[in-house]
Formats: sequence, C-alpha cells, structure tokens
Amino acid sequence: MKSALEAIRARALERLQNADDLAALEEARVQLLGKKGELTAILKTMGQLSPEERPVMGQMANEVRAAIEEKLAARGAALKAAMAEQKLKMETIDVTLPGKPIREGHRHPLNLVLDEIKEIFLGMGFDVVSGPEVELDYYNFEALNLPPDHPARDTQDTFYITDKVLLRTQTSPVQIRTMEQRKPPIRIIAPGRVYRSDAVDATHSPIFHQIEGLVVDEGITMSDLKGCLETVIKRLYGEDSVVRFRPHHFPFTEPSAEVDVQCFACHGKGCRICKGEGWIEILGCGMVHPKVLAGCGLDPEKYSGFAFGIGLERIVMRRFAVDDMRLFYENDTRFLEQF
Ligand code: DAH
Repeated sequence: MKSALEAIRARALERLQNADDLAALEEARVQLLGKKGELTAILKTMGQLSPEERPVMGQMANEVRAAIEEKLAARGAALKAAMAEQKLKMETIDVTLPGKPIREGHRHPLNLVLDEIKEIFLGMGFDVVSGPEVELDYYNFEALNLPPDHPARDTQDTFYITDKVLLRTQTSPVQIRTMEQRKPPIRIIAPGRVYRSDAVDATHSPIFHQIEGLVVDEGITMSDLKGCLETVIKRLYGEDSVVRFRPHHFPFTEPSAEVDVQCFACHGKGCRICKGEGWIEILGCGMVHPKVLAGCGLDPEKYSGFAFGIGLERIVMRRFAVDDMRLFYENDTRFLEQF
C-alpha cells in the first residue's frame, strides 16, 4: 500500500505540473481528490490493514493528499500569473504604428460670412442684438404696419403656433423690440434664423437667415441708407462689385428699395443661378415708416431712420459661387471642408 501511495503521489504531481490551463487543472483536481479518485479508492481499503499499520498508512495518505493540494494551489497561481502576463502583452500599444490623421473641424460658410458682416458693421458703430424666433404676431406683423388683414401677410407663408404666436418670418420684429427698449441714436444689426413654409429648392428653404439693420436718429436720410449699404457691399465683395437700388414696397418703410448685385456666375448676362435676370436680389431696405416710429413711441417729426434686411444665404452663395442653397444645410463634410 505504501508503494501504491507513493506511485499515486508521483503520478499526481506530474499530471498537475503538465496541466497547461485552469480547466485542465480543475479536471485533474476532481480526478485526483474526488470521490471516484485513486486516493479515495485506496483509503477505502484501509479497513483490510492491521491495527498497527492503519495509523501509519492513514498519515501517509494524508501527506499525499496535502502534497497534491499544495501542488494544485501552486500550479493554479502560476497559471493565473501566466494568463495575466499574456493579457498585458496583448494590450500593449505599439507606439511605432503610424497615427490616424485627425480631421479638423471647419467654420460653416454661413458663419464665416456672418462674422465678416458683423465685423464690418461693428466697425461702423453698430451693436449686434437678437430677438426671439418664436415671436408674437404683434412684433412680426402688426407693429411693422401690417394689420391683421393686410395682403402682404399672404406673401410670407407663416408658420402659426396660435393666432397670436408664430415663427418669425423675418428679423424685422427685432427693429420694434429695439425701438421699444432704446432711445436714439440707434444703430443695430440683428442676425438670426427666420421661417417660412416654402418648398425646398436651389434658392429656397423653410429655415433661412436674415440680418436686420436699423438706424434711427435725428436727420437720417435716404443718402445715409445708400452710403451705408454701398460701403458694406463693397467691403464684402470688393470695390468693383456692381450694385443697384430698385424701387420696391415694404409696409414698414417708405420709400422702400431692393438692392441687387450683379450675378457672380454670368456677370449680368443671365443664367440659371440668377434665373436669367443677371442680378441677384440680396436685401430689402427703406426709410422707417413714420407709423412704425410713432408706434414705438418715437416722434416722427423729430426722428427718422433707415432699415434693411439682408438674406444671408444669397450673400454667401454669391460670395463662394455656391449654386445650391441646400448644400448649406446638408452638412456634407466634402462640401464644408472647402471653406
Ligand atoms: N423683412 C423683409 C423681408 O423679409 C426684408 C426687409 C425689407 C427688411 C426692408 C427691412 C426693410 O428692414 O427695411 O422680406
């Protein structure tokens, strides 16, 4: 029995040493020490031994068991350490690999030009102000001399929220809000988003941007208006750009005009971009209507002013020769990266 125990110990220790993963080790543990294991089987035959031999063999069996358990623990620890090392090796970073280039962000073309326009006006002493996009009918229409049944309301396909609340169709309501809050001299621009339920095409979008302008003081005339806008347009497009003022009608200005710049694509010949006209309309303007001044508590006998509304998208299209407005909103990086 003694030699049998020794053989068991030798075989067990060798088997454990050769177990090369934790699953194999566990399998060995069950077979060596479990109920069906060799050691257990041999212990069951102890009853056949003489009373003198029994304690000696019992002790020896215990020693074998202890040796196996010790080897199990040692081998288990060694395997775990090897696995941890292996894992660390797999996670090492090869700092010699070539890097992935980081794609740089770009300013949106609408923001690039808006910033330029702001700079020009700031240099001329204007403040930049803003107003709400969810606006009262009163500010968007009524105070701008567009009473409830005014036909010009139909030309601005308005998104109404309630009878009295709407998405502003123009930045002009900021004029009223400004005149209510400030006393002349007033010189502001108010850039922002406006909304109209227009179908999308190359030159229309239901959300677009305007830059409102307002100057109110004593003795402001139409020549101030022309001088100011011509200066701005030439700063934006260069001294040689061709500008024309065309008589027009807006309810909140009198007289009113629209300003066109010669088409960038065909230089006045007429093409798809200018719809065959040779000119692109970029802003509306005029002398603030006396009714509008009076409605804001400003005496039209004492004060006069001019106002303008610039369509930002059209200006940017002309500036960068972009022939489809939709490109501004799709945020295709192949387009945006060009600016
Ligand atoms: N609000 C006008 C529009 O959206 C543009 C405009 C015209 C603004 C004349 C003005 C102005 O301030 O004086 O069509």
